[in-house]
Amino acid sequence: MRQQIVAGNWKMNNDLAQTETLITSLKTKIKTSNAEVMIAPTFTNLWQAYQTLKGTDIEVIAQNMHFAENGAYTGEISARMLKSVGVKTVILGHSERREYFNETDEILAKKVDAALANDLRVIFCFGEVLADRKSGNHENVVGSQIKNALFHLQAWHFKNIVLAYEPVWAIGTGETATAEQAQDMHAFIRKTLADQFGHEIANNVSILYGGSVKPNNANEIFDKPDVDGGLIGGAALNADDFYAIVNAF
Ligand code: 13P
Repeated sequence: MRQQIVAGNWKMNNDLAQTETLITSLKTKIKTSNAEVMIAPTFTNLWQAYQTLKGTDIEVIAQNMHFAENGAYTGEISARMLKSVGVKTVILGHSERREYFNETDEILAKKVDAALANDLRVIFCFGEVLADRKSGNHENVVGSQIKNALFHLQAWHFKNIVLAYEPVWAIGTGETATAEQAQDMHAFIRKTLADQFGHEIANNVSILYGGSVKPNNANEIFDKPDVDGGLIGGAALNADDFYAIVNAF
């Protein structure tokens, strides 16, 4: 069976004290779960979060990293730096990185390579904007995002890859894809992988849905056969909401 995952992407929210408060609350609530549970605080709070959550079933993951090993890249963070503060998983390709920080498929392919070369697990995000959805071009867009950043990999790399379909029009808007829209796209994603890497790889990759997942819709979305969990933004900032979503499995 595929690994089920619920990951909270905190984005640029929560200072150190707020991080500690939220984590302490999550730690008391989330004891066991059918899903792997992860939270992605901002870089400056990763070490503290890692220390606080040591020995629990909640993994601390990073929101981004640079592709270079080290060097003159002011303001950037490398895979090795993440690993040195206990991080084993990194989110790459989030639409906010693509949109506001000009991360192209080409850059993302390099980041994926660097993460995998450093034994980090990657949660690779992609998704179409509203215009693509409206014009019926969403599968083409998603297909090429996957192809451009991941098709150069070897099949065995996929043991360290999780995919996250996040339609841009559903992020932070309160407008969720319907469970059927999510299922249709996830099935398409799995087929795209199967065509390139074979059915075994495709059937074993966890594909998460992200975009306005809340306690009241998580169950319906997670119930779909090709949806293996969620990447949660806003609702991950509230301990009760995140706990309810984790329990939706
Ligand atoms: P929201 O859950 O706030 O829509 O954000 C989703 C997201 O971008 C997770 O990475």
